[in-house]
Amino acid sequence: MKMWDGRFSKPSATLMDRFNRSLGVDAALGREDIEGSIAWAAALKKVRILSVREHAAIDRGLRSLLNEWKNGTIRFLDSDEDVHMAIERLLVDKIGAAGEKLHTGRSRNDQVATDTRLFTMRRVGEITKLIGAVQKALLLRAKADRAIIAPAFTHLQQAQPIVLSQYWLSLLFALEREKTRFAEARQCADLMPLGSGAVAGSGFPVDRELLARLLGFSAISQNSIDGVSSRDFVLQALACCASCGVLLSRYAEDLIIWSSREFAFVELDDAWSTGSSMMPQKKNPDSLELVRGKAGRFVGNYTRFAATLKGVGLAYYKDLQEDKEPLFDSLEQLGLVLDVFANVIATLTVKTDAVSRDLDPLLLATDLADYLVGKGIAFRKAHNVVGKIVACSISSGAPLTGFSVDQLREFSPLFGTDALAVFKWENAVARRNAVGGTAPASVARQIKQAEKMLGKVQS
Ligand code: ARG
Repeated sequence: MKMWDGRFSKPSATLMDRFNRSLGVDAALGREDIEGSIAWAAALKKVRILSVREHAAIDRGLRSLLNEWKNGTIRFLDSDEDVHMAIERLLVDKIGAAGEKLHTGRSRNDQVATDTRLFTMRRVGEITKLIGAVQKALLLRAKADRAIIAPAFTHLQQAQPIVLSQYWLSLLFALEREKTRFAEARQCADLMPLGSGAVAGSGFPVDRELLARLLGFSAISQNSIDGVSSRDFVLQALACCASCGVLLSRYAEDLIIWSSREFAFVELDDAWSTGSSMMPQKKNPDSLELVRGKAGRFVGNYTRFAATLKGVGLAYYKDLQEDKEPLFDSLEQLGLVLDVFANVIATLTVKTDAVSRDLDPLLLATDLADYLVGKGIAFRKAHNVVGKIVACSISSGAPLTGFSVDQLREFSPLFGTDALAVFKWENAVARRNAVGGTAPASVARQIKQAEKMLGKVQS
């Protein structure tokens, strides 16, 4: 027997039941569903649909189910269609006929939208904390690696010298924007649909402000059709997960390359690496490969639900049941990705010698051109002069930093004895002191700024 089968003359097909059932996925909403029902019962008592006695019985029954859910002892049945039906059945099993009044004036349509919004708000809050943990790990690295001169790459070719902190801080600042995106996603979810009924609004004058207060929503939906049909908050949360996942995948890619024998800039801690079943010598950066790989999953989950939502008319249709699997998956997996990534960053070893050992002297070519600009010629001309010096360095095999002033003067009379100061790595980074640059003074300002953003960080 089903809760809705009064008008049917025969039972639904077994395959239809299996096809329709969502409990395997939406059981995760147990807590939100029970809390939503506790609030709903209070609202029904206020409009005297429930007597004080009935309300007390329902409230007690729901609270005991909430405990069971928290302890993991709640017993759903294979025959339960979804989490909402399961909780209602368990309540009636527990307290009897009074439980049959709970669904008055409510629909699973406003119920599921409420549960999913609450769930999203909570999980997004957890994700934001985990992003903060990655940022803290990066900040500690940035503070530790200020004196390490490293090549910055463009096109995977050595480009210009930086201090290594500059690299760690780049991700720290990018993650701050991800936090902002998630804060917006949380705000989008923070709109309570409960009291919208199936589509036209509840048939009882329930106090929706009271419901919102009880459940921790700061706003209520102003239109019942919007209340039951909107899933933009799901798309937004999925888009945030995709954005954050894609960002981390790019850093994972860099670090995977840096951990190779050819680069050997970093070594991952054993605890965050894995071995090979065949090759005894192997130590693989699987943690980072999964961080990178799961980005595809986040993008897929967004695309998957966007494709489902497209064309679903403005009301509840069962298509919307397909929102939960991608949403739960992205929120859970991004949590794992962030947690693992924070640990990888916190425990890896920077191979200081390797980072600085192979700096190509040609990385100072821009600085040499800038020197000529300082002597009064146009940058484009300076670029050409230094290009010729670079070509000479390459063809003769003499490193740029070995050129004497006299040799430089063969290319331009503007070179003076002060030109040789250009060949000091420290000078090259120190010059880049405009806001955001890699100069130690600029990095110190970035660190200050980051500390202000994150609050005090224990080292
Ligand atoms: N299991 C459904 C979902 O997740 C709950 C809402 C069902 N509503 C309905 N009218 N059939 O979307």
